[in-house]
Amino acid sequence: MRIIPALLAGAVALSLSIAAQAQPIIIKFSHVVAVDTPKGKAAERFKQLAEERTKGRVKVEVYPNSQLYKDGEEMEALQLGSVQLLAPSLAKFGPLGVREFEVFDLPYIFDSYADLHKVTDGAVGKMLFDKLGSKGIVGLAYWDNGFKVMSANKPLRTPADFKGLKLRIQSSKVLEAQMRALGAIPQVMAFSEVYQALQTGVVDGTENPPSNFYTQKMFEVQKYLTLSDHGYIGYAVIANKKFWSGLPADIRATLEGAMKDATKYANDIAKDENDKALAEVKKTGKTEFITLTPEQKAEWKKALMPVHREMESRIGKDIIQTVYKETGFKP
Ligand code: LMR
Repeated sequence: MRIIPALLAGAVALSLSIAAQAQPIIIKFSHVVAVDTPKGKAAERFKQLAEERTKGRVKVEVYPNSQLYKDGEEMEALQLGSVQLLAPSLAKFGPLGVREFEVFDLPYIFDSYADLHKVTDGAVGKMLFDKLGSKGIVGLAYWDNGFKVMSANKPLRTPADFKGLKLRIQSSKVLEAQMRALGAIPQVMAFSEVYQALQTGVVDGTENPPSNFYTQKMFEVQKYLTLSDHGYIGYAVIANKKFWSGLPADIRATLEGAMKDATKYANDIAKDENDKALAEVKKTGKTEFITLTPEQKAEWKKALMPVHREMESRIGKDIIQTVYKETGFKP
Protein backbone atom coordinates (compact mmCIF):
# COMPACT_ATOMS: atom_id res chain seq x y z
CA MET A 1 0.00 0.00 0.00
CA ARG A 2 2.81 2.46 0.83
CA ILE A 3 3.99 2.08 -2.75
CA ILE A 4 1.13 4.25 -4.14
CA PRO A 5 2.07 7.50 -2.25
CA ALA A 6 5.70 6.91 -3.33
CA LEU A 7 4.65 6.48 -6.97
CA LEU A 8 2.45 9.56 -6.72
CA ALA A 9 5.30 11.57 -5.19
CA GLY A 10 7.60 10.33 -7.93
CA ALA A 11 5.09 11.24 -10.64
CA VAL A 12 4.62 14.72 -9.15
CA ALA A 13 8.37 15.26 -8.89
CA LEU A 14 8.84 14.09 -12.47
CA SER A 15 6.13 16.36 -13.85
CA LEU A 16 7.54 19.25 -11.85
CA SER A 17 11.02 18.74 -13.30
CA ILE A 18 9.61 18.35 -16.80
CA ALA A 19 7.63 21.56 -16.23
CA ALA A 20 10.75 23.29 -14.91
CA GLN A 21 12.73 22.15 -17.91
CA ALA A 22 9.94 23.41 -20.16
CA GLN A 23 10.25 26.83 -18.53
CA PRO A 24 12.45 28.99 -20.71
CA ILE A 25 15.54 30.57 -19.19
CA ILE A 26 14.74 34.28 -18.89
CA ILE A 27 17.41 36.85 -19.75
CA LYS A 28 16.53 40.40 -18.78
CA PHE A 29 18.56 42.81 -20.92
CA SER A 30 18.30 46.39 -19.67
CA HIS A 31 19.71 49.48 -21.36
CA VAL A 32 19.24 53.26 -21.34
CA VAL A 33 18.91 54.24 -25.00
CA ALA A 34 16.12 54.18 -27.58
CA VAL A 35 15.40 51.12 -29.72
CA ASP A 36 16.20 53.04 -32.93
CA THR A 37 19.93 53.26 -32.11
CA PRO A 38 22.95 51.01 -32.76
CA LYS A 39 22.69 49.49 -29.26
CA GLY A 40 18.88 49.32 -29.32
CA LYS A 41 18.86 47.46 -32.64
CA ALA A 42 21.71 45.14 -31.65
CA ALA A 43 19.93 44.17 -28.42
CA GLU A 44 16.85 43.25 -30.46
CA ARG A 45 19.04 41.28 -32.88
CA PHE A 46 20.60 39.34 -29.98
CA LYS A 47 17.11 38.57 -28.67
CA GLN A 48 15.98 37.29 -32.06
CA LEU A 49 19.06 35.09 -32.60
CA ALA A 50 19.15 33.76 -29.03
CA GLU A 51 15.48 32.76 -29.06
CA GLU A 52 15.64 31.26 -32.56
CA ARG A 53 18.81 29.28 -31.99
CA THR A 54 17.85 27.93 -28.59
CA LYS A 55 14.46 26.99 -30.02
CA GLY A 56 12.72 28.86 -27.25
CA ARG A 57 14.73 27.42 -24.36
CA VAL A 58 15.85 31.01 -23.75
CA LYS A 59 13.63 34.08 -23.67
CA VAL A 60 15.32 37.49 -23.86
CA GLU A 61 13.35 40.43 -22.43
CA VAL A 62 14.86 43.70 -23.66
CA TYR A 63 14.12 46.83 -21.58
CA PRO A 64 15.26 49.97 -23.47
CA ASN A 65 15.05 53.65 -22.45
CA SER A 66 15.96 53.05 -18.77
CA GLN A 67 12.53 51.42 -18.37
CA LEU A 68 13.85 48.93 -15.82
CA TYR A 69 17.04 50.54 -14.47
CA LYS A 70 18.65 53.84 -15.23
CA ASP A 71 22.27 54.93 -15.04
CA GLY A 72 23.68 54.55 -11.56
CA GLU A 73 21.27 51.66 -10.83
CA GLU A 74 21.90 49.14 -13.60
CA MET A 75 25.37 47.92 -12.51
CA GLU A 76 24.19 47.02 -9.03
CA ALA A 77 21.08 45.35 -10.47
CA LEU A 78 23.38 43.20 -12.62
CA GLN A 79 25.63 42.29 -9.69
CA LEU A 80 22.54 41.32 -7.65
CA GLY A 81 21.22 39.21 -10.53
CA SER A 82 18.05 41.31 -10.92
CA VAL A 83 19.00 41.57 -14.58
CA GLN A 84 21.24 39.23 -16.55
CA LEU A 85 22.59 41.46 -19.33
CA LEU A 86 23.58 45.11 -19.76
CA ALA A 87 25.47 47.12 -22.37
CA PRO A 88 26.64 50.23 -20.55
CA SER A 89 28.80 52.89 -22.10
CA LEU A 90 32.53 52.34 -21.56
CA ALA A 91 32.42 55.69 -19.72
CA LYS A 92 30.33 54.21 -16.89
CA PHE A 93 32.71 51.66 -15.37
CA GLY A 94 34.60 54.11 -13.11
CA PRO A 95 31.95 54.00 -10.34
CA LEU A 96 32.21 50.18 -10.43
CA GLY A 97 35.88 50.58 -9.56
CA VAL A 98 37.27 49.69 -12.98
CA ARG A 99 38.52 53.16 -13.90
CA GLU A 100 40.84 51.79 -16.62
CA PHE A 101 37.82 51.66 -18.97
CA GLU A 102 37.98 55.46 -19.08
CA VAL A 103 40.88 55.16 -21.52
CA PHE A 104 38.13 55.08 -24.17
CA ASP A 105 37.02 58.59 -23.06
CA LEU A 106 40.34 60.30 -23.74
CA PRO A 107 39.77 63.10 -26.26
CA TYR A 108 40.82 62.38 -29.84
CA ILE A 109 42.42 59.05 -28.90
CA PHE A 110 40.68 57.27 -31.81
CA ASP A 111 40.74 58.65 -35.35
CA SER A 112 38.50 55.92 -36.76
CA TYR A 113 36.46 52.80 -36.00
CA ALA A 114 39.38 50.78 -37.38
CA ASP A 115 41.66 52.28 -34.69
CA LEU A 116 39.08 51.56 -32.04
CA HIS A 117 38.77 47.89 -33.05
CA LYS A 118 42.54 47.45 -32.73
CA VAL A 119 41.97 48.18 -29.03
CA THR A 120 38.63 46.45 -28.38
CA ASP A 121 39.81 43.32 -30.26
CA GLY A 122 43.33 43.60 -28.77
CA ALA A 123 45.20 43.14 -25.48
CA VAL A 124 43.62 46.16 -23.79
CA GLY A 125 40.10 45.01 -24.62
CA LYS A 126 40.79 41.60 -23.11
CA MET A 127 42.62 43.01 -20.06
CA LEU A 128 39.69 45.27 -19.23
CA PHE A 129 37.23 42.38 -19.37
CA ASP A 130 39.50 40.32 -17.11
CA LYS A 131 39.14 43.06 -14.50
CA LEU A 132 35.36 42.53 -14.32
CA GLY A 133 35.53 38.99 -12.88
CA SER A 134 36.17 40.20 -9.33
CA LYS A 135 33.01 42.34 -9.60
CA GLY A 136 30.84 39.30 -10.36
CA ILE A 137 30.59 40.35 -13.99
CA VAL A 138 31.69 38.74 -17.27
CA GLY A 139 32.48 40.78 -20.37
CA LEU A 140 30.93 39.33 -23.54
CA ALA A 141 31.52 41.84 -26.33
CA TYR A 142 32.27 45.43 -27.35
CA TRP A 143 29.54 47.17 -29.32
CA ASP A 144 30.18 50.40 -31.24
CA ASN A 145 28.21 53.57 -31.23
CA GLY A 146 30.13 56.55 -32.55
CA PHE A 147 32.08 59.79 -32.34
CA LYS A 148 30.60 62.59 -30.28
CA VAL A 149 29.24 65.97 -31.28
CA MET A 150 29.06 68.83 -28.81
CA SER A 151 25.84 70.82 -28.45
CA ALA A 152 24.58 73.95 -26.70
CA ASN A 153 22.29 76.94 -27.22
CA LYS A 154 25.22 79.07 -28.36
CA PRO A 155 27.71 78.28 -31.14
CA LEU A 156 30.75 76.33 -29.87
CA ARG A 157 33.64 77.09 -32.23
CA THR A 158 36.61 77.65 -29.92
CA PRO A 159 37.45 76.63 -26.33
CA ALA A 160 36.70 80.23 -25.29
CA ASP A 161 33.05 79.63 -26.22
CA PHE A 162 32.76 77.00 -23.46
CA LYS A 163 33.63 79.35 -20.61
CA GLY A 164 31.24 78.87 -17.68
CA LEU A 165 28.82 76.60 -19.55
CA LYS A 166 27.27 73.76 -17.55
CA LEU A 167 27.69 70.64 -19.68
CA ARG A 168 26.21 67.21 -18.98
CA ILE A 169 28.57 64.26 -18.98
CA GLN A 170 28.53 60.56 -18.24
CA SER A 171 30.00 59.39 -14.92
CA SER A 172 33.64 59.54 -16.03
CA LYS A 173 36.52 61.48 -14.44
CA VAL A 174 38.16 61.76 -17.86
CA LEU A 175 35.09 63.54 -19.23
CA GLU A 176 35.05 65.77 -16.18
CA ALA A 177 38.68 66.72 -16.90
CA GLN A 178 37.83 67.20 -20.58
CA MET A 179 35.08 69.73 -19.86
CA ARG A 180 37.22 71.57 -17.29
CA ALA A 181 40.04 71.77 -19.86
CA LEU A 182 37.59 73.55 -22.15
CA GLY A 183 36.58 75.96 -19.37
CA ALA A 184 33.14 74.43 -18.90
CA ILE A 185 31.50 73.09 -15.72
CA PRO A 186 30.88 69.33 -15.99
CA GLN A 187 27.68 67.87 -14.58
CA VAL A 188 27.27 64.11 -14.28
CA MET A 189 23.68 63.08 -14.95
CA ALA A 190 21.74 59.95 -15.88
CA PHE A 191 21.04 59.71 -19.61
CA SER A 192 17.30 59.55 -18.97
CA GLU A 193 17.39 62.99 -17.35
CA VAL A 194 19.34 64.86 -20.03
CA TYR A 195 16.49 66.07 -22.25
CA GLN A 196 14.61 67.65 -19.37
CA ALA A 197 17.77 69.17 -17.91
CA LEU A 198 18.49 70.81 -21.27
CA GLN A 199 14.88 71.95 -21.60
CA THR A 200 14.82 73.55 -18.15
CA GLY A 201 18.34 74.97 -18.33
CA VAL A 202 19.74 72.86 -15.50
CA VAL A 203 22.51 72.26 -18.01
CA ASP A 204 23.39 74.37 -21.07
CA GLY A 205 24.67 71.62 -23.33
CA THR A 206 26.10 68.15 -23.70
CA GLU A 207 28.01 65.68 -25.89
CA ASN A 208 26.85 62.46 -27.53
CA PRO A 209 26.94 60.63 -30.85
CA PRO A 210 24.28 61.81 -33.33
CA SER A 211 22.19 58.63 -32.86
CA ASN A 212 21.55 59.57 -29.20
CA PHE A 213 21.21 63.28 -29.95
CA TYR A 214 18.51 62.50 -32.54
CA THR A 215 16.57 59.72 -30.79
CA GLN A 216 16.46 61.71 -27.53
CA LYS A 217 15.09 64.68 -29.53
CA MET A 218 17.84 66.94 -28.20
CA PHE A 219 17.44 69.03 -31.40
CA GLU A 220 14.26 70.40 -29.78
CA VAL A 221 16.30 71.90 -26.92
CA GLN A 222 19.71 72.58 -28.49
CA LYS A 223 20.13 75.34 -31.09
CA TYR A 224 23.72 74.50 -32.10
CA LEU A 225 25.69 71.32 -32.72
CA THR A 226 29.44 71.22 -33.39
CA LEU A 227 30.68 68.34 -35.57
CA SER A 228 33.73 67.92 -33.34
CA ASP A 229 34.33 64.12 -33.25
CA HIS A 230 36.35 64.97 -30.11
CA GLY A 231 35.66 61.64 -28.41
CA TYR A 232 33.98 58.26 -28.73
CA ILE A 233 31.08 56.39 -27.06
CA GLY A 234 30.92 52.61 -27.25
CA TYR A 235 29.65 49.80 -25.07
CA ALA A 236 30.66 46.71 -23.18
CA VAL A 237 28.05 43.96 -23.22
CA ILE A 238 28.27 42.37 -19.76
CA ALA A 239 26.51 39.55 -17.94
CA ASN A 240 26.04 38.48 -14.34
CA LYS A 241 28.94 36.05 -13.93
CA LYS A 242 27.07 33.50 -11.76
CA PHE A 243 24.14 33.43 -14.17
CA TRP A 244 26.34 33.09 -17.25
CA SER A 245 28.64 30.39 -15.88
CA GLY A 246 25.58 28.59 -14.46
CA LEU A 247 23.96 28.18 -17.87
CA PRO A 248 23.81 24.67 -19.41
CA ALA A 249 26.94 24.38 -21.58
CA ASP A 250 25.01 23.92 -24.82
CA ILE A 251 22.87 26.97 -24.14
CA ARG A 252 25.88 29.12 -23.26
CA ALA A 253 27.65 28.07 -26.47
CA THR A 254 24.58 28.96 -28.52
CA LEU A 255 24.23 32.32 -26.76
CA GLU A 256 27.90 33.09 -27.33
CA GLY A 257 27.32 32.44 -31.04
CA ALA A 258 24.27 34.70 -31.03
CA MET A 259 26.27 37.40 -29.21
CA LYS A 260 29.07 37.13 -31.76
CA ASP A 261 26.67 37.65 -34.66
CA ALA A 262 24.78 40.43 -32.87
CA THR A 263 28.14 42.12 -32.24
CA LYS A 264 29.05 41.95 -35.93
CA TYR A 265 25.64 43.43 -36.72
CA ALA A 266 26.04 46.20 -34.11
CA ASN A 267 29.45 47.22 -35.40
CA ASP A 268 28.36 46.99 -39.03
CA ILE A 269 25.43 49.41 -38.55
CA ALA A 270 26.94 51.89 -36.05
CA LYS A 271 28.45 54.41 -38.46
CA ASP A 272 25.42 54.35 -40.77
CA GLU A 273 23.02 54.81 -37.88
CA ASN A 274 24.92 57.91 -36.79
CA ASP A 275 25.18 59.33 -40.32
CA LYS A 276 21.43 58.78 -40.80
CA ALA A 277 20.68 60.42 -37.45
CA LEU A 278 22.73 63.47 -38.38
CA ALA A 279 20.80 63.80 -41.63
CA GLU A 280 17.51 63.52 -39.74
CA VAL A 281 18.59 66.25 -37.29
CA LYS A 282 19.50 68.44 -40.26
CA LYS A 283 16.06 67.83 -41.77
CA THR A 284 14.37 69.15 -38.64
CA GLY A 285 16.00 72.53 -39.26
CA LYS A 286 15.94 73.11 -35.50
CA THR A 287 19.67 72.80 -34.82
CA GLU A 288 22.41 74.69 -36.68
CA PHE A 289 25.47 72.61 -37.58
CA ILE A 290 28.96 74.00 -37.00
CA THR A 291 31.94 72.55 -38.85
CA LEU A 292 35.27 73.45 -37.28
CA THR A 293 37.97 75.01 -39.41
CA PRO A 294 41.38 73.24 -39.26
CA GLU A 295 42.60 76.12 -37.03
CA GLN A 296 39.65 75.73 -34.65
CA LYS A 297 40.13 71.95 -34.53
CA ALA A 298 43.80 72.53 -33.66
CA GLU A 299 42.70 74.84 -30.82
CA TRP A 300 40.39 72.11 -29.43
CA LYS A 301 43.17 69.54 -29.61
CA LYS A 302 45.64 71.92 -27.91
CA ALA A 303 43.17 72.52 -25.09
CA LEU A 304 42.28 68.82 -24.69
CA MET A 305 45.52 66.90 -25.15
CA PRO A 306 46.77 67.71 -21.60
CA VAL A 307 43.88 65.55 -20.33
CA HIS A 308 45.82 62.47 -21.49
CA ARG A 309 48.77 63.30 -19.21
CA GLU A 310 46.47 64.42 -16.38
CA MET A 311 44.64 61.07 -16.42
CA GLU A 312 47.75 58.84 -16.53
CA SER A 313 47.66 58.15 -12.78
CA ARG A 314 43.95 57.31 -12.88
CA ILE A 315 43.83 55.09 -15.97
CA GLY A 316 47.41 53.79 -15.89
CA LYS A 317 50.24 55.15 -18.04
CA ASP A 318 50.96 51.66 -19.41
CA ILE A 319 47.38 51.23 -20.64
CA ILE A 320 47.43 54.59 -22.40
CA GLN A 321 50.83 53.82 -23.94
CA THR A 322 49.56 50.43 -25.14
CA VAL A 323 46.58 52.11 -26.82
CA TYR A 324 48.94 54.64 -28.45
CA LYS A 325 51.03 51.75 -29.78
CA GLU A 326 48.01 49.70 -30.96
CA THR A 327 46.50 52.68 -32.80
CA GLY A 328 49.67 54.51 -33.83
CA PHE A 329 48.36 57.57 -31.98
CA LYS A 330 50.85 60.49 -31.77
CA PRO A 331 50.07 62.67 -28.69
C1 LMR B 1 25.10 58.59 -22.24
O1 LMR B 1 24.86 58.43 -21.04
O2 LMR B 1 25.16 59.69 -22.78
C2 LMR B 1 25.32 57.37 -23.10
O3 LMR B 1 26.19 56.53 -22.49
C3 LMR B 1 24.04 56.65 -23.34
C4 LMR B 1 24.29 55.39 -24.14
O4 LMR B 1 24.19 54.31 -23.57
O5 LMR B 1 24.61 55.55 -25.32
